[in-house]
Amino acid sequence: MAIRNVRTEGDDILRKKSRVVEKFDRRLWDLLDDMGDTLAQQNGVGLAGVQVGALRRVFIIDVGDENGVIEFVNPEILEQSGSQRVLEGCLSFPGQWGMVTRPDHVKIRAQDRRGRWFERVGEGLMAQAMVHEYGHLDGHAFKEDPTFTPVSEEELEAMTAGEG
Ligand code: NI
Repeated sequence: MAIRNVRTEGDDILRKKSRVVEKFDRRLWDLLDDMGDTLAQQNGVGLAGVQVGALRRVFIIDVGDENGVIEFVNPEILEQSGSQRVLEGCLSFPGQWGMVTRPDHVKIRAQDRRGRWFERVGEGLMAQAMVHEYGHLDGHAFKEDPTFTPVSEEELEAMTAGEG
């Protein structure tokens, strides 16, 4: 188990396109394990390989439900529909928040850590995270989304007041 350093704004790697994973070997499993540890330590919802310096088409998502961490290798978005206006942040942009419009239904086809293909449908937070993480694989940051509007620390406090 290892926590990896999360790359943050200003690091050029975040703008690069990640490469297709071809080997489903120990090196990939170590990366995915470390990403899981890093996501848990940061209390995040999602993390892409590039965010820990690995330019490979992988991301993980944990929306905090009974499914735990879900790993997506070489994901492709098959469908997206609906829309939701949601608050969003990113571990690579600490302290920065904004509202973005995301689909509220997303279907992805991806491989698991052993190379087996699967399909998964996400709604709500899962759909939001799928699209956010997919963006990282092509070098896109959430702040660049045309629907993004920033939310200040003060506004954020007001929005989350009462959530404890
Ligand atoms: Ni992100």
